[in-house]
Amino acid sequence: MQPAIYLDNSATTPVLPGIAAVMHKMLVENYGNPSSLHGLGIAAEKALAHARRQVAGLIGARPAEIYFTSGGTEANNWAVWGISRARRRQGKHIITTAVEHSSLLAACRRLEAEGYEVTYLPVDSRGVIRPADLEAALREDTILVSVMSVNNETGALQPVGEVARLVHSKSRAVLHVDHIQGYGKIPLNCQKVGIDLLSLSAHKIHGPKGTGALYIKEGLRLEPLLVGGEQEAGRRAGTENTAGIAAFGLAAELAAAHMEERVARMREIKIELATRLLESIPGARINGPPPEEGAPHILNVSFPGVRAEVLVHMLEQRGVYVSTGSACHSRKQEASHVLKALHLERWRLEGAIRISLGALNTPDEVTPAVEAIKECVTELWAL
Ligand SMILES: Cc1ncc(COP(=O)(O)O)c(C=O)c1O
Repeated sequence: MQPAIYLDNSATTPVLPGIAAVMHKMLVENYGNPSSLHGLGIAAEKALAHARRQVAGLIGARPAEIYFTSGGTEANNWAVWGISRARRRQGKHIITTAVEHSSLLAACRRLEAEGYEVTYLPVDSRGVIRPADLEAALREDTILVSVMSVNNETGALQPVGEVARLVHSKSRAVLHVDHIQGYGKIPLNCQKVGIDLLSLSAHKIHGPKGTGALYIKEGLRLEPLLVGGEQEAGRRAGTENTAGIAAFGLAAELAAAHMEERVARMREIKIELATRLLESIPGARINGPPPEEGAPHILNVSFPGVRAEVLVHMLEQRGVYVSTGSACHSRKQEASHVLKALHLERWRLEGAIRISLGALNTPDEVTPAVEAIKECVTELWAL
């Protein structure tokens, strides 16, 4: 059997060996509780401080503005819920987009059930919001605008700079950006752009699952989600996941150091994959932005007369791993809310697979991946 070709990096990435080694060391040697006063505690606290600098570096943040969480979901939940509580007296209106990750949308829906009003901005056929829609939606009582930088299903890039300009010039709202798919791929400087809150997750950049961070701009009031101990400057209680955090730090440092070369390679592979799939499979269609326009690592494509979940399993038999839509709801039978927001025809919703790249993919995987997809689609057409 061929070695596996892993093309599901937007679901999660393999932990790089050097990063796993850092985790191991933290678990068995530097295992102190950062709150302990003795040397082991101080060593663990130092590892946290180091990771905070590493994670902050990539987004133009100060280390003190990074708050570690249990992942991207907690960061998104915290941003939405924390602002709803901190700004309760200012208003109860939130603006987000129809294509956010479920961890952001579900947090909004919970607030709607409590009487908050949420505006979901529509997207165009590429999956991108129109700044004019945002401008029209901003109100006196808007407390939060939350827009992702990179969509996890289509790779569409939102105009975050334009969003920030509008939010700050036309309202008193706070701007939150889910940068989980963009971190290490799309440069974004929180200070320069004017971002107040930004979510990150380690496992999309070859770090471990269950570790993430929320950037909170200095001075911004945000109600804590988790209460108890005084960890994370008293804003996020719970003994820190020191191994995960130290590993996240190294993953961020490596992502920063290799960003240019990784992004160039991923984009080359993505464009080659898209070109060859469109050329060799009649009727194949890209969902979302044209390949050269979107994020360098995500390609969403549909094949006529093919059900995505069947194709995913057939490809797995050939050692090629892809996703249907996004991994978070790929076990559900219903079409993804992101692709629905693009108003695609039914066959494209049912047949969409997501191919997503990471730091370990190489151009020589393109030919076997395209051949495998072609074979499977042809087999399905012959049934
Ligand atoms: C855009 C986006 N936001 C949030 C999340 C959730 O992050 P985590 O898996 O760390 O909870 C994901 C993960 O798939 C994502 O892609």
